[in-house]
Amino acid sequence: MQNRSAVALLIAVLSFWPFPAEAQKNKELAGKCLTCHKQVSPGLYQQWYESSHAVHQVTCIDCHGADKRDIDAFSHNGAQIAVLVTPKDCGVCHAKERDQVGGSHHARAGQILESEDAYLAHVTAGHPVAITGCEACHGANVRIDKNSPNKLSPLSWPNSGIGRINPDGSLGACNACHPRHLFSRAQARQPQSCSKCHLGPDHPQKEVYEESKHGNSYATAIETMNLHSDRWVVGQDYYAAPTCATCHMSATAEQPVTHDVGTRLSYSLRPAISKRQDNWQQKRQAMKQVCSACHRSGFIDGHYAQFDATVALYDEKFAKPATELMTLIRKRQLLEKPASFANDIEWTYWEIWHHEGRRARHGVSMMGPDYTWWHGLYEVAQHFYFKFLPQAMELQDPEVDAWIDRLLAEPEHRWMEEQTEVLRKQIRDGKVQAIYRDLFPQKP
Ligand code: HEC
Ligand code: HEC
Ligand code: HEC
Ligand code: HEC
Ligand code: HEC
Ligand code: HEC
Ligand code: HEC
Ligand code: HEC
Repeated sequence: MQNRSAVALLIAVLSFWPFPAEAQKNKELAGKCLTCHKQVSPGLYQQWYESSHAVHQVTCIDCHGADKRDIDAFSHNGAQIAVLVTPKDCGVCHAKERDQVGGSHHARAGQILESEDAYLAHVTAGHPVAITGCEACHGANVRIDKNSPNKLSPLSWPNSGIGRINPDGSLGACNACHPRHLFSRAQARQPQSCSKCHLGPDHPQKEVYEESKHGNSYATAIETMNLHSDRWVVGQDYYAAPTCATCHMSATAEQPVTHDVGTRLSYSLRPAISKRQDNWQQKRQAMKQVCSACHRSGFIDGHYAQFDATVALYDEKFAKPATELMTLIRKRQLLEKPASFANDIEWTYWEIWHHEGRRARHGVSMMGPDYTWWHGLYEVAQHFYFKFLPQAMELQDPEVDAWIDRLLAEPEHRWMEEQTEVLRKQIRDGKVQAIYRDLFPQKP
């Protein structure tokens, strides 16, 4: 390969080229890093050797070289280096990506200590799993340990969490999506690069994608996806299927690549009750423009009409009542134990919104029918009617009971008291469906 012989030449040149004194010293050092690490860590060396950084003569010291005053710098074989290579370091050459990552929700993902999730992990499980669980995805606050040979505390490094809080003040870890030392676009364009974090019971985007027609089409046509192309415009450089990157980050005929994954989202589907993003219409328009490389507007609008209705169904029928009832129970101080999560019903409420309700919403947003229903609203409904409400009734409080009676008299909850045959007939006649008419956007 032409590129590879260029790299071999570079290494030779680095060792012998007559540069001005300072530059000369750096080039010599750069050559030494490569020569020695080729022996001591051949796998790592080979990853770098295959990378586009090697082709462009970006070597170990360009990324790991440090100033003596850096809090994580240490002396290593005649050079000052640091192990951490943060967005600030990459940003010396990739300023646009640094700024976009810095402005995104991803960069804030490390600030979770005050969340309910963190409370739950600390009290019910324990500290080590907050490090190896939560922080491995969200990012640790990387702490300095003066006695550690590489200055980093083993309690907070290794870590490549998406919102890592770095000692230099920058937020994130570029290698969350661009594994070292290949640092490649082609890798990041594939769904696996998001799948360490975006999966599982509370945000199964990987599973939803895999079961969708998009995921099916991708898996059966990867070789046509042109992943190694410099230019990767949907509909022009590839067309078989969209990946996570296509919809959330990559270029279209009208939009450039963005490293802010929030720019095309109209909702936040994470909280108990869904929220619209600021400027949501504009963000939705940006996403629809991605779809338009492969679909026409009637189809795309149809998807959003069904998506909106399902989100509204979850919010209106289950999330809002469940949240209101939980608030009433807390206000009336009916829970037996004082600590949050020390009572069964709190877990039930939590799982309804944090697991099942998110699964339903994530399923419908990305066309995964199994997550929308069987792993989603089916479980929401079962646990709402047969766990949550019964646990609330066990509290034997007249105000709570009256609240539940009122709820169960509403049209969408009244089914329990009807005869099955009557309900079946009402389904055939469209009367049961009509209860949910208002959830769909009304066409003039
Ligand atoms: C003479 C051989 C040699 C040279 C030259 C050398 N290294 Fe190393 N380096 C090592 C060895 C051996 C280790 C592993 C140390 C250990 O495991 O404790 C290491 C470890 C490292 C680490 C990880 C430190 C840690 O604690 O995780 C980094 C980063 C690193 N080297 C970068 C560099 C850079 C950049 C250069 C060039 C400026 C360089 N090395 C030059 C041999 C070398
Ligand atoms: C494009 C920037 C870049 C270049 C070039 C680069 N590294 Fe790294 N390296 C990183 C990043 C990023 C990490 C992960 C550190 C972090 O999490 O911040 C890392 C981590 C390491 C580690 C510690 C992790 C481990 O797996 O033990 C070693 C050792 C290391 N690099 C050595 C090298 C050597 C040797 C070279 C040259 C062959 C090199 N690096 C070239 C960016 C770079
Ligand atoms: C497998 C990786 C992973 C683990 C482990 C994990 N999270 Fe998350 N977390 C995520 C992802 C991905 C999201 C975003 C989901 C989405 O947008 O659909 C998220 C969302 C959140 C949110 C919501 C943030 C918001 O803006 O609404 C909080 C809070 C949170 N996680 C805290 C935690 C805590 C605390 C732990 C440990 C108890 C934890 N997470 C464990 C990946 C993880
Ligand atoms: C959420 C995952 C993710 C993170 C985090 C991420 N990247 Fe990327 N990056 C991608 C994807 C996906 C592409 C490919 C976009 C395309 O061409 O379709 C990419 C492309 C790039 C490119 C090529 C740019 C181009 O327009 O061709 C550079 C350079 C880059 N990233 C640098 C960085 C730097 C620096 C950071 C940290 C500040 C970073 N990335 C963090 C996913 C990520
Ligand atoms: C000294 C400058 C320099 C530093 C520091 C640097 N890069 Fe690069 N990077 C380049 C150059 C030059 C290229 C090749 C030209 C291009 O694609 O922009 C490149 C290309 C890339 C690409 C595209 C590779 C592909 O698939 O073709 C990614 C991704 C990337 N860099 C990520 C990073 C990350 C992440 C860091 C920090 C860990 C980093 N870079 C640090 C100079 C640098
Ligand atoms: C066909 C395009 C498409 C693909 C492919 C796709 N998404 Fe999405 N994604 C969407 C849409 C549409 C939404 C909802 C947008 C909105 O809020 O309006 C969404 C929402 C999200 C959200 C926000 C969830 C929340 O809690 O608000 C995350 C996180 C996400 N996607 C991650 C991923 C990941 C990871 C993959 C790949 C495994 C992926 N997406 C694949 C289109 C896509
Ligand atoms: C190392 C873990 C990790 C990786 C890898 C990762 N994410 Fe995320 N992502 C998160 C976490 C954690 C959050 C939630 C942040 C929060 O709310 O605080 C998140 C949030 C998001 C959101 C919601 C953003 C918003 O503004 O609300 C989208 C969309 C998203 N990620 C897409 C992606 C895509 C696409 C990829 C792959 C190209 C990816 N992520 C890779 C951890 C990750
Ligand atoms: C790169 C092309 C491409 C892009 C971009 C794309 N899709 Fe698709 N989409 C497909 C293909 C191919 C199918 C499978 C068609 C079939 O069922 O015959 C599909 C199917 C669908 C389906 C039908 C699902 C089913 O189970 O029948 C929906 C809905 C959909 N896409 C919506 C969207 C939305 C919304 C976007 C943008 C957020 C989008 N698509 C972006 C290629 C794409």
